[in-house]
Amino acid sequence: MAQLPDPLEHRQADHPIEDLFLRRWSPRAMNGEPLAESELMRLFEAARWAPSTYNEQEWRFLYATRDSEHWQTYFDLLTEGNQAWCDQAAVLIVGLSCKVFSRNGKPNPVHTLDTGLAMQNLLLQAAAMGLVAHGMAGFNRGSAKSALNVPDDFEVEVMIAAGHPGDPDSLPENYRDMDLNPSGRKPVAEIARPGKFGF
Ligand SMILES: Cc1cc2nc3c(=O)[nH]c(=O)nc-3n(C[C@H](O)[C@H](O)[C@H](O)COP(=O)(O)O)c2cc1C
Repeated sequence: MAQLPDPLEHRQADHPIEDLFLRRWSPRAMNGEPLAESELMRLFEAARWAPSTYNEQEWRFLYATRDSEHWQTYFDLLTEGNQAWCDQAAVLIVGLSCKVFSRNGKPNPVHTLDTGLAMQNLLLQAAAMGLVAHGMAGFNRGSAKSALNVPDDFEVEVMIAAGHPGDPDSLPENYRDMDLNPSGRKPVAEIARPGKFGF
């Protein structure tokens, strides 16, 4: 049985950083085994400690575990491409953000940004625990909103599939190749420079 590679053997940082940033990646192979409730709570606990504007904490997470009555509803929201590998996830998570400030109801311009920070905390915690956690934009937001009773002042931001690592050979070929080759990155010089925009 093949195993997911160790991303540290494929990824090289140009400047010294914590290994966890390189260890977080988005493989797709999962083995279908459930996550313990305590493991799942550790993911949300990490998300909880993200920074946010005025400490608004406007992120919310809904989830369905594979054995729950809600699983099929969540699974049906995904694009076909994502369904092809999410069937072995332990849990599907939907990330939401409140679009208005709790204290005055005015629009919060950074609700998506804040929720992205919480999502990244969750992904990093999963990586630290040796779990797969994979963000997805490929799902039907409108259907998610209605199927999950999301109120109008909330935005449906993202879905995340999480579970225990599985066998990349169990994936369709294109996905298997990606799971055997953790992605790289642009050099720092292409994403950060002093002064005015010059990329
Ligand atoms: C917001 C967001 C949406 C994404 N949507 C999908 C998706 O729908 N399907 C998918 O297979 N991967 C999806 N990805 C995973 C990205 O393709 C992946 O993060 C990127 O290629 C970098 O690879 P890495 O996460 O392994 O470092 C998404 C990632 C993010 C952050």
